[in-house]
Amino acid sequence: MADGSAPGIKPISGGVHLGIEHESARKHVTGAATYTDDIPELPGTLHVAVRLSDRAHARILGMDLAKAKQAPGVHAVLTFDDVPGDGDIGPILPGDPVLAPDVVEYAGQAVVAVAAETLSQARAAARMVEVFYEDLPAVLTAQEAMEAESFVSPSLTFQRGDAAQAVASAPRRLSGTLEVGGQDHFYLESHIAYAIPKEDGDLLVHSSTQHPAEVQHAVAKVLGRPMHGIAVECRRMGGGFGGKESQPAQIACIAALLANATRRPVKFRMDRDDDMLMTGKRHDFHVRYDVGFDEDGRIQGMEMDLAGRCGMSLDLSNGVVDRAMFHADNAYYLPAARITGHRCKTHTVSNTAFRGFGGPQGVIAVEEVVDEIARSLGKDPLDVRRANLYGGPGRDVTPYGMPVEEPDILAELLDQIERDSDYRNRRTEIDAFNARNTVLKKGLAVTPVKFGISFTVKHLNQAAALVHVYTDGSVQVNHGGTEMGQGIHTKMAQIAAQEFQIDVDRVKVTASATDKVPNAPPTAASAGTDLNGQAVRLAVRTIKGRLADFLAEHCHTTPDKVEFRDNAVFAGNHAMTFPEVAKLAYLNRVSLSSTGHYATPRIWWDREKCEGRPFFYFSCGVAVTEALIDTLTGEYRFPRADVLHDCSGTINPAIDLGQVEGAFVQGLGWVTCEELWWDGQGRLRTHAPSTYKIPTSRTIPEDFRVTLYTARPNREDTVFRSKAIGEPPLMLGISAWLALKDAVAAVGGHKYPVHLDAPATPERVLLAVEDIKARMAAGG
Ligand code: MTE
Ligand code: MOS
Repeated sequence: MADGSAPGIKPISGGVHLGIEHESARKHVTGAATYTDDIPELPGTLHVAVRLSDRAHARILGMDLAKAKQAPGVHAVLTFDDVPGDGDIGPILPGDPVLAPDVVEYAGQAVVAVAAETLSQARAAARMVEVFYEDLPAVLTAQEAMEAESFVSPSLTFQRGDAAQAVASAPRRLSGTLEVGGQDHFYLESHIAYAIPKEDGDLLVHSSTQHPAEVQHAVAKVLGRPMHGIAVECRRMGGGFGGKESQPAQIACIAALLANATRRPVKFRMDRDDDMLMTGKRHDFHVRYDVGFDEDGRIQGMEMDLAGRCGMSLDLSNGVVDRAMFHADNAYYLPAARITGHRCKTHTVSNTAFRGFGGPQGVIAVEEVVDEIARSLGKDPLDVRRANLYGGPGRDVTPYGMPVEEPDILAELLDQIERDSDYRNRRTEIDAFNARNTVLKKGLAVTPVKFGISFTVKHLNQAAALVHVYTDGSVQVNHGGTEMGQGIHTKMAQIAAQEFQIDVDRVKVTASATDKVPNAPPTAASAGTDLNGQAVRLAVRTIKGRLADFLAEHCHTTPDKVEFRDNAVFAGNHAMTFPEVAKLAYLNRVSLSSTGHYATPRIWWDREKCEGRPFFYFSCGVAVTEALIDTLTGEYRFPRADVLHDCSGTINPAIDLGQVEGAFVQGLGWVTCEELWWDGQGRLRTHAPSTYKIPTSRTIPEDFRVTLYTARPNREDTVFRSKAIGEPPLMLGISAWLALKDAVAAVGGHKYPVHLDAPATPERVLLAVEDIKARMAAGG
């Protein structure tokens, strides 16, 4: 069997850099994929409904639970006082009670949880609960919180040079404000957990979560039990988008508390309305800026205040607001800057991670600044963007002191998209179109993104994996990442296949489980593949090392002469198929299982001093979007968008293409149609698809051209030199908002100022158009 044509020895299929299909693609579309709700229910399973507060801020004077307790099918009615362990599950600091204690701090907060034999019985009983409140004063918006100095944590400032002085002494100066809306995650699968009692009071919890270890930690905490008796498992989520980073803990804890109280399996599958009312969203921001610049639009100094509405608790808000600050430069060099992030405490739901984790809010703020500079100078915004790009001598350090080591990539991407989108000609055509048409107006905008990759909390930048080789040569991989549709399991299988040099269909990636890989960080910050991919690789290498040692002895050669290639292993003049090697190694008592652990090198961040290298590297992209508005109704369409994103070194170009398309559309939705609206009492009134508009097939650009840029493998030693992709392209959706603004400006021949907050709903577009028309009529 010494020659490569022997049976079983053939080039591998499905290694890295190939666009193989998502391991669950067919199961997703045929409905065969098992989500948490599809796990066959055990006999005796109970179902959960929660009673939510309808007050933003109130003291609970008392509750009448008697009727609910006696209602048909009810097995348990729980309040905060029934929690056997610690009832606070704040992921970083306390402040997130699993059920409201004596005070409610937002409308939508869970006060009572009921378990009953059917879901409708549970819902009926939850409605029978009477809660008696005494209203307390409520702070609802970020601006109100700023005035009241109501914060969940102290403000933080990045400072370079004397920004105030630089602004004051610049030839030109502008200041302004921007309201940036939040966003509901609208994962297709709402929050869900299924808790199953085991012996000794242990629990197995199936949870739709990006962070099984955090769910395990929280469940152990509320039950007052050690973590070793709590196992959390997640095969896949029907979308997470950051909404399942910290939030699943509460859902799982409620299910676990009820399972513990009843000794029955308990499933808590949230109704869409309850999910939207009860769980955190993207932070909305109030932005204020002062900027000084020269006649070319080049920024000399910028002062910016970013006030994020955190809601009633800290949750992950420090990281989110910090990331907004880290991205308030986006692609632009700011010679002097003061950037302050405020963490506003309000009596609204505690906002949380959402794709980009605050980055998009920082990016949109500085994109507004650059756009306003261009408009004030009557220049094409693309030229002002170019004038401010990182690059050139001395123009390569961020306001927080991190060098931008590859600054020229931004200009390169802009060059390519300017060509590919035919930007200059289309600008001329659009001007001509606008001159011809009075009702319909077009706009065009280009925006870049530079997004920092790594958790800014250093210890989260680690990952582990567990790899088993079985005696038939099949391989099972488990790792600390979770699958939410982004394809991490496919990429991990490709990486293991590549390293072992076996066909990808010999590798199975199994459900994320805290009893297989413990203490894993959340799958977030776009770093899932970077972190877990390296851990998988290291685990595989350990096994390969053992096999090489064994085969060297067995075949009378040296380990360095053992080669894994083409579904086979070559040792000296022997060649064996991979299954043969697995079997032989087993018979010779060689361990075929290993863990791997990886920690990202080079990164550090001193939050006290605001200095360091918080990111391993940056991920960059650009987009050009065209908008068409109806000036009589404010309605709009996007006739075309061109997107170019850096996916160099990609593990799987097909998956990455999907990530870029999806992220762009999700970003476009955030800044255009998705509007969260709270009434004057702090009650969210857009808590269902009937009132909350996510992008649809009609919103997506009609001519949507997405290209992966692949010319520059990662200069850092990432797994197969790939680059993270999950979040960065979301920020390119901001070009859609600026295209709308450009179209509105065209109403007044680009002579009048335009103010357009985000999201630019048809209503906002219409009001902005009316505002220009009024100014024109007034001759001002
Ligand atoms: N893609 C799909 N289909 N579904 C998701 O929930 N979440 C995004 C992104 N892409 C998400 C997604 C977010 S918020 C992040 S941080 C990354 O995927 C996480 O996965 P990764 O680190 O493996 O890229
Ligand atoms: Mo993504 S917001 O980091 O889960």
